[in-house]
Amino acid sequence: MKAKIVILPGDGIGPEVIKVSQKILEQISHKFDHQFEIEEQLIGGIAIDKEQNPLPHETSKACLEADAVLLGAVGGPKWDDPTAKMRPEQGLLGLRKKLDLFANLRPINPHHDLISASPLKEEKLLGVDFIVVRELTGGIYFGQPSERRVVDGQIQSLDTMVYNESEIERVANLAFNLARERSGKLTSVDKANVLESSRLWREVVTRVAKEHSDIELEHLLVDAAAMHLLTRPATFDVIVTANLFGDILTDEASILTGSLGNLPSASIGNQLNSLGYPRGVYEPIHGSAPDIAGLGIANPIGTILSTAMMLRHSLGLETEAKAIEKVIDDVLTAGYRTADLVNDGETEISTEVLSGHILERLD
Ligand code: IPM
Ligand code: MG
Repeated sequence: MKAKIVILPGDGIGPEVIKVSQKILEQISHKFDHQFEIEEQLIGGIAIDKEQNPLPHETSKACLEADAVLLGAVGGPKWDDPTAKMRPEQGLLGLRKKLDLFANLRPINPHHDLISASPLKEEKLLGVDFIVVRELTGGIYFGQPSERRVVDGQIQSLDTMVYNESEIERVANLAFNLARERSGKLTSVDKANVLESSRLWREVVTRVAKEHSDIELEHLLVDAAAMHLLTRPATFDVIVTANLFGDILTDEASILTGSLGNLPSASIGNQLNSLGYPRGVYEPIHGSAPDIAGLGIANPIGTILSTAMMLRHSLGLETEAKAIEKVIDDVLTAGYRTADLVNDGETEISTEVLSGHILERLD
Protein backbone atom coordinates (compact mmCIF):
# COMPACT_ATOMS: atom_id res chain seq x y z
CA MET A 1 0.00 0.00 0.00
CA LYS A 2 0.97 3.63 -0.45
CA ALA A 3 0.47 6.28 2.21
CA LYS A 4 1.49 9.87 2.73
CA ILE A 5 2.67 10.62 6.26
CA VAL A 6 3.66 14.02 7.62
CA ILE A 7 6.00 14.06 10.59
CA LEU A 8 6.18 17.08 12.88
CA PRO A 9 9.10 16.65 15.32
CA GLY A 10 8.46 20.01 17.02
CA ASP A 11 10.40 21.03 20.12
CA GLY A 12 12.35 19.67 23.10
CA ILE A 13 12.50 15.87 23.09
CA GLY A 14 10.07 15.81 20.13
CA PRO A 15 12.80 15.34 17.47
CA GLU A 16 14.55 12.66 19.60
CA VAL A 17 11.47 10.45 19.94
CA ILE A 18 10.24 11.07 16.40
CA LYS A 19 13.61 9.92 15.02
CA VAL A 20 13.04 6.47 16.53
CA SER A 21 9.54 6.22 15.07
CA GLN A 22 10.79 7.26 11.68
CA LYS A 23 13.25 4.35 11.69
CA ILE A 24 10.45 2.04 12.75
CA LEU A 25 8.28 3.24 9.87
CA GLU A 26 11.14 2.62 7.44
CA GLN A 27 11.58 -0.88 8.78
CA ILE A 28 7.85 -1.62 8.66
CA SER A 29 7.66 -0.41 5.08
CA HIS A 30 10.49 -2.77 4.03
CA LYS A 31 9.26 -5.71 6.01
CA PHE A 32 5.63 -5.50 4.90
CA ASP A 33 6.29 -4.03 1.49
CA HIS A 34 4.55 -0.67 1.85
CA GLN A 35 5.47 2.68 0.38
CA PHE A 36 5.36 5.40 3.00
CA GLU A 37 5.99 8.83 1.57
CA ILE A 38 7.28 10.74 4.59
CA GLU A 39 7.43 14.52 4.65
CA GLU A 40 8.81 16.55 7.55
CA GLN A 41 7.30 19.92 8.47
CA LEU A 42 7.64 22.58 11.15
CA ILE A 43 5.33 23.15 14.11
CA GLY A 44 5.54 24.90 17.48
CA GLY A 45 8.52 26.88 18.76
CA ILE A 46 10.87 25.90 15.97
CA ALA A 47 8.26 27.10 13.47
CA ILE A 48 8.05 30.43 15.31
CA ASP A 49 11.85 30.74 15.07
CA LYS A 50 12.04 29.83 11.40
CA GLU A 51 8.73 31.05 9.98
CA GLN A 52 7.37 33.44 12.62
CA ASN A 53 4.29 31.22 12.80
CA PRO A 54 3.66 28.21 15.12
CA LEU A 55 1.58 26.59 12.35
CA PRO A 56 3.00 27.70 9.00
CA HIS A 57 0.74 27.53 5.98
CA GLU A 58 2.93 24.89 4.39
CA THR A 59 2.54 22.67 7.45
CA SER A 60 -1.25 22.84 7.52
CA LYS A 61 -1.40 22.28 3.78
CA ALA A 62 0.84 19.19 4.01
CA CYS A 63 -1.19 17.83 6.96
CA LEU A 64 -4.48 18.36 5.12
CA GLU A 65 -3.13 16.44 2.14
CA ALA A 66 -1.59 13.62 4.19
CA ASP A 67 -3.16 10.32 5.19
CA ALA A 68 -1.82 10.69 8.72
CA VAL A 69 0.34 12.96 10.85
CA LEU A 70 2.86 11.92 13.50
CA LEU A 71 3.83 14.62 15.98
CA GLY A 72 6.51 14.83 18.69
CA ALA A 73 5.89 17.73 21.08
CA VAL A 74 5.67 21.49 21.15
CA GLY A 75 6.76 24.19 23.61
CA GLY A 76 9.66 25.15 25.81
CA PRO A 77 11.02 27.88 28.10
CA LYS A 78 12.43 29.81 25.13
CA TRP A 79 8.90 30.69 24.01
CA ASP A 80 7.29 30.98 27.46
CA ASP A 81 7.23 34.77 27.74
CA PRO A 82 3.65 35.45 28.92
CA THR A 83 3.47 38.63 26.85
CA ALA A 84 4.60 36.93 23.61
CA LYS A 85 2.17 37.29 20.73
CA MET A 86 2.80 33.76 19.49
CA ARG A 87 3.03 30.55 21.47
CA PRO A 88 4.15 27.09 20.27
CA GLU A 89 0.98 25.52 21.69
CA GLN A 90 -1.11 27.57 19.25
CA GLY A 91 0.42 25.47 16.50
CA LEU A 92 -0.86 22.25 18.01
CA LEU A 93 -4.29 23.63 18.90
CA GLY A 94 -4.59 25.18 15.44
CA LEU A 95 -3.76 21.87 13.77
CA ARG A 96 -6.35 19.97 15.83
CA LYS A 97 -8.96 22.56 14.90
CA LYS A 98 -8.00 22.75 11.24
CA LEU A 99 -8.26 18.98 10.79
CA ASP A 100 -11.44 18.89 12.92
CA LEU A 101 -9.96 16.25 15.22
CA PHE A 102 -12.62 16.39 17.91
CA ALA A 103 -11.75 13.15 19.71
CA ASN A 104 -8.45 12.33 21.35
CA LEU A 105 -8.07 8.67 22.33
CA ARG A 106 -5.67 7.92 25.17
CA PRO A 107 -5.38 4.23 26.10
CA ILE A 108 -4.13 3.30 29.59
CA ASN A 109 -2.87 -0.21 29.70
CA PRO A 110 -0.06 -0.82 32.23
CA HIS A 111 2.57 -3.38 31.24
CA HIS A 112 2.72 -6.26 33.76
CA ASP A 113 6.46 -5.73 34.36
CA LEU A 114 6.11 -1.99 34.95
CA ILE A 115 3.77 -2.32 37.90
CA SER A 116 6.67 -1.57 40.25
CA ALA A 117 7.46 1.60 38.25
CA SER A 118 4.10 3.04 39.33
CA PRO A 119 3.63 4.53 42.81
CA LEU A 120 0.31 2.67 43.07
CA LYS A 121 0.03 -0.67 44.83
CA GLU A 122 0.03 -3.75 42.61
CA GLU A 123 -3.46 -4.81 43.77
CA LYS A 124 -4.89 -1.56 42.39
CA LEU A 125 -3.18 -1.94 39.03
CA LEU A 126 -4.14 -5.50 38.21
CA GLY A 127 -6.67 -5.55 35.39
CA VAL A 128 -6.34 -1.85 34.51
CA ASP A 129 -7.21 -1.38 30.83
CA PHE A 130 -9.21 1.67 29.84
CA ILE A 131 -9.27 4.41 27.28
CA VAL A 132 -9.99 8.10 27.73
CA VAL A 133 -11.85 9.91 24.97
CA ARG A 134 -10.96 13.56 25.42
CA GLU A 135 -13.02 16.14 23.51
CA LEU A 136 -10.34 18.05 21.60
CA THR A 137 -11.64 20.99 19.59
CA GLY A 138 -13.98 22.72 22.02
CA GLY A 139 -14.41 23.76 25.62
CA ILE A 140 -12.19 26.21 27.45
CA TYR A 141 -9.28 25.59 25.05
CA PHE A 142 -11.09 27.42 22.27
CA GLY A 143 -13.90 29.45 23.90
CA GLN A 144 -14.06 33.19 23.30
CA PRO A 145 -13.55 35.61 24.86
CA SER A 146 -10.16 34.62 26.18
CA GLU A 147 -8.35 37.78 27.10
CA ARG A 148 -6.97 40.29 29.55
CA ARG A 149 -8.80 43.52 30.17
CA VAL A 150 -8.89 46.31 32.69
CA VAL A 151 -11.94 46.42 34.92
CA ASP A 152 -12.30 48.95 37.73
CA GLY A 153 -8.68 49.94 37.38
CA GLN A 154 -7.22 46.45 37.69
CA ILE A 155 -6.23 43.76 35.24
CA GLN A 156 -8.70 40.96 34.86
CA SER A 157 -8.30 37.87 32.70
CA LEU A 158 -10.84 35.35 31.56
CA ASP A 159 -11.32 32.19 29.54
CA THR A 160 -14.61 30.79 28.35
CA MET A 161 -15.77 27.21 28.74
CA VAL A 162 -18.31 26.70 26.03
CA TYR A 163 -19.92 23.64 24.43
CA ASN A 164 -22.77 23.33 22.03
CA GLU A 165 -24.98 20.26 21.72
CA SER A 166 -23.53 18.96 18.48
CA GLU A 167 -19.97 19.08 19.83
CA ILE A 168 -21.00 16.96 22.81
CA GLU A 169 -23.15 14.63 20.72
CA ARG A 170 -20.45 13.66 18.23
CA VAL A 171 -17.80 12.87 20.82
CA ALA A 172 -20.36 11.03 22.99
CA ASN A 173 -21.43 8.90 20.01
CA LEU A 174 -17.83 8.04 19.26
CA ALA A 175 -17.27 7.05 22.90
CA PHE A 176 -20.43 4.90 23.06
CA ASN A 177 -19.38 3.10 19.87
CA LEU A 178 -15.92 2.52 21.29
CA ALA A 179 -17.44 1.16 24.50
CA ARG A 180 -19.44 -1.31 22.39
CA GLU A 181 -16.20 -2.67 20.89
CA ARG A 182 -14.82 -3.11 24.41
CA SER A 183 -16.65 -4.21 27.56
CA GLY A 184 -19.78 -2.08 27.11
CA LYS A 185 -19.24 0.42 29.89
CA LEU A 186 -18.89 4.19 29.56
CA THR A 187 -18.07 6.79 32.22
CA SER A 188 -18.83 10.42 31.42
CA VAL A 189 -16.89 12.95 33.49
CA ASP A 190 -18.05 16.52 34.09
CA LYS A 191 -18.48 19.18 36.77
CA ALA A 192 -22.25 19.43 36.50
CA ASN A 193 -22.69 20.51 40.13
CA VAL A 194 -20.96 23.82 39.33
CA LEU A 195 -20.60 24.50 35.60
CA GLU A 196 -23.42 25.24 33.18
CA SER A 197 -21.38 23.82 30.28
CA SER A 198 -21.11 20.58 32.26
CA ARG A 199 -24.85 20.47 32.91
CA LEU A 200 -25.42 20.58 29.16
CA TRP A 201 -22.68 17.95 28.73
CA ARG A 202 -24.47 15.58 31.11
CA GLU A 203 -27.87 16.26 29.56
CA VAL A 204 -26.64 15.57 26.02
CA VAL A 205 -24.66 12.45 26.99
CA THR A 206 -27.76 11.11 28.75
CA ARG A 207 -29.84 11.82 25.65
CA VAL A 208 -27.30 10.16 23.33
CA ALA A 209 -27.28 7.15 25.68
CA LYS A 210 -30.86 6.37 24.64
CA GLU A 211 -29.52 5.39 21.21
CA HIS A 212 -26.97 3.13 22.89
CA SER A 213 -29.14 1.34 25.43
CA ASP A 214 -26.81 -1.69 25.37
CA ILE A 215 -24.06 0.40 26.98
CA GLU A 216 -23.92 0.92 30.73
CA LEU A 217 -23.43 4.63 31.45
CA GLU A 218 -22.07 6.18 34.64
CA HIS A 219 -21.66 9.93 35.30
CA LEU A 220 -18.83 11.11 37.55
CA LEU A 221 -17.84 14.55 38.73
CA VAL A 222 -14.29 15.37 37.72
CA ASP A 223 -12.97 15.71 41.27
CA ALA A 224 -14.36 12.29 42.17
CA ALA A 225 -13.03 10.87 38.90
CA ALA A 226 -9.54 12.11 39.78
CA MET A 227 -9.78 10.15 43.01
CA HIS A 228 -11.38 7.01 41.53
CA LEU A 229 -8.60 6.81 38.94
CA LEU A 230 -6.32 6.03 41.88
CA THR A 231 -8.68 4.05 44.11
CA ARG A 232 -10.45 1.87 41.53
CA PRO A 233 -8.72 2.27 38.14
CA ALA A 234 -9.54 -1.28 37.06
CA THR A 235 -13.28 -0.54 37.05
CA PHE A 236 -13.05 1.88 34.10
CA ASP A 237 -13.41 0.89 30.48
CA VAL A 238 -14.12 3.99 28.37
CA ILE A 239 -14.13 7.50 29.86
CA VAL A 240 -15.44 10.46 27.87
CA THR A 241 -14.82 14.00 29.02
CA ALA A 242 -14.32 17.63 28.05
CA ASN A 243 -11.06 19.01 26.70
CA LEU A 244 -9.55 20.46 29.90
CA PHE A 245 -10.66 17.62 32.19
CA GLY A 246 -9.28 15.08 29.72
CA ASP A 247 -5.95 16.87 29.57
CA ILE A 248 -5.57 16.78 33.34
CA LEU A 249 -6.97 13.31 34.01
CA THR A 250 -4.76 11.63 31.41
CA ASP A 251 -1.53 13.01 32.87
CA GLU A 252 -2.73 11.57 36.17
CA ALA A 253 -3.75 8.25 34.60
CA SER A 254 -0.42 7.91 32.79
CA ILE A 255 1.22 7.27 36.14
CA LEU A 256 -0.71 4.00 36.36
CA THR A 257 1.58 2.82 33.53
CA GLY A 258 4.72 3.95 35.36
CA SER A 259 5.49 7.06 33.32
CA LEU A 260 3.96 9.82 31.28
CA GLY A 261 6.47 8.82 28.61
CA ASN A 262 4.62 5.57 27.86
CA LEU A 263 1.34 7.06 26.74
CA PRO A 264 0.31 7.34 23.10
CA SER A 265 -2.66 9.16 21.67
CA ALA A 266 -4.73 9.37 18.53
CA SER A 267 -6.65 12.49 17.56
CA ILE A 268 -9.36 11.72 15.07
CA GLY A 269 -12.59 13.12 13.70
CA ASN A 270 -15.15 12.17 11.08
CA GLN A 271 -13.11 13.11 8.02
CA LEU A 272 -11.61 10.33 5.96
CA ASN A 273 -8.21 10.29 4.26
CA SER A 274 -7.46 9.14 0.69
CA LEU A 275 -7.37 5.54 1.91
CA GLY A 276 -10.88 5.74 3.36
CA TYR A 277 -9.75 5.68 7.00
CA PRO A 278 -10.11 8.49 9.59
CA ARG A 279 -7.59 11.25 9.16
CA GLY A 280 -5.61 11.71 12.34
CA VAL A 281 -2.75 13.26 14.27
CA TYR A 282 -0.84 10.82 16.43
CA GLU A 283 1.32 11.99 19.30
CA PRO A 284 2.63 10.97 22.70
CA ILE A 285 0.83 12.73 25.56
CA HIS A 286 4.07 13.87 27.19
CA GLY A 287 5.21 17.37 26.36
CA SER A 288 8.53 18.67 25.10
CA ALA A 289 10.29 17.92 28.45
CA PRO A 290 12.86 20.74 28.05
CA ASP A 291 14.67 19.61 31.21
CA ILE A 292 15.89 16.43 29.51
CA ALA A 293 15.93 17.57 25.87
CA GLY A 294 19.23 16.83 24.14
CA LEU A 295 20.38 14.38 26.82
CA GLY A 296 19.40 11.32 24.79
CA ILE A 297 17.44 9.79 27.66
CA ALA A 298 13.85 10.41 26.57
CA ASN A 299 11.41 7.49 26.61
CA PRO A 300 10.33 6.90 22.99
CA ILE A 301 7.57 4.40 23.86
CA GLY A 302 4.67 6.90 23.84
CA THR A 303 5.62 7.98 20.32
CA ILE A 304 6.22 4.43 19.12
CA LEU A 305 2.82 3.31 20.41
CA SER A 306 1.31 6.41 18.75
CA THR A 307 2.91 5.22 15.52
CA ALA A 308 1.21 1.85 16.00
CA MET A 309 -2.11 3.63 16.56
CA MET A 310 -1.52 5.59 13.36
CA LEU A 311 -0.95 2.43 11.35
CA ARG A 312 -4.07 0.86 12.82
CA HIS A 313 -6.55 3.76 12.69
CA SER A 314 -5.49 5.87 9.70
CA LEU A 315 -3.77 3.29 7.48
CA GLY A 316 -5.76 0.16 8.29
CA LEU A 317 -2.57 -1.79 9.03
CA GLU A 318 -3.60 -3.87 12.05
CA THR A 319 -0.92 -6.58 11.65
CA GLU A 320 1.83 -3.97 11.46
CA ALA A 321 0.42 -2.11 14.49
CA LYS A 322 0.31 -5.34 16.48
CA ALA A 323 3.88 -6.16 15.46
CA ILE A 324 5.08 -2.87 16.95
CA GLU A 325 3.03 -3.29 20.13
CA LYS A 326 4.37 -6.81 20.57
CA VAL A 327 7.97 -5.58 20.32
CA ILE A 328 7.35 -2.88 22.93
CA ASP A 329 5.80 -5.50 25.18
CA ASP A 330 8.84 -7.74 24.64
CA VAL A 331 11.52 -5.13 25.34
CA LEU A 332 9.77 -4.14 28.55
CA THR A 333 9.49 -7.77 29.59
CA ALA A 334 13.19 -8.14 28.84
CA GLY A 335 13.84 -5.33 31.34
CA TYR A 336 15.00 -2.54 29.03
CA ARG A 337 14.12 0.81 30.60
CA THR A 338 14.79 4.48 30.03
CA ALA A 339 15.50 6.74 33.01
CA ASP A 340 11.84 7.53 33.73
CA LEU A 341 11.07 3.83 34.28
CA VAL A 342 13.98 2.51 36.32
CA ASN A 343 13.63 1.35 39.89
CA ASP A 344 16.41 0.90 42.44
CA GLY A 345 18.91 -1.60 41.17
CA GLU A 346 17.76 -1.46 37.56
CA THR A 347 20.03 -0.16 34.81
CA GLU A 348 18.82 2.71 32.68
CA ILE A 349 19.53 2.79 28.99
CA SER A 350 19.50 5.65 26.51
CA THR A 351 16.86 6.38 23.89
CA GLU A 352 19.26 5.13 21.24
CA VAL A 353 20.10 1.86 22.95
CA LEU A 354 16.42 1.15 23.58
CA SER A 355 15.55 1.93 19.99
CA GLY A 356 18.33 -0.40 18.86
CA HIS A 357 16.72 -3.26 20.79
CA ILE A 358 13.31 -2.38 19.38
CA LEU A 359 14.50 -2.24 15.76
CA GLU A 360 16.42 -5.48 16.13
CA ARG A 361 13.37 -7.31 17.42
CA LEU A 362 11.13 -5.83 14.78
CA ASP A 363 13.34 -7.27 12.07
C1 IPM B 1 -1.60 17.53 25.54
C2 IPM B 1 -0.77 18.75 25.85
C3 IPM B 1 -1.33 19.94 25.09
C4 IPM B 1 -2.76 20.17 25.56
C5 IPM B 1 -0.51 21.25 25.21
C6 IPM B 1 0.91 21.06 24.75
C7 IPM B 1 -1.15 22.39 24.48
O1 IPM B 1 -0.73 18.98 27.21
O2 IPM B 1 -1.71 17.16 24.36
O3 IPM B 1 -2.13 16.93 26.48
O4 IPM B 1 -2.98 20.81 26.59
O5 IPM B 1 -3.68 19.71 24.87
MG1 MG C 1 -1.61 17.45 28.38
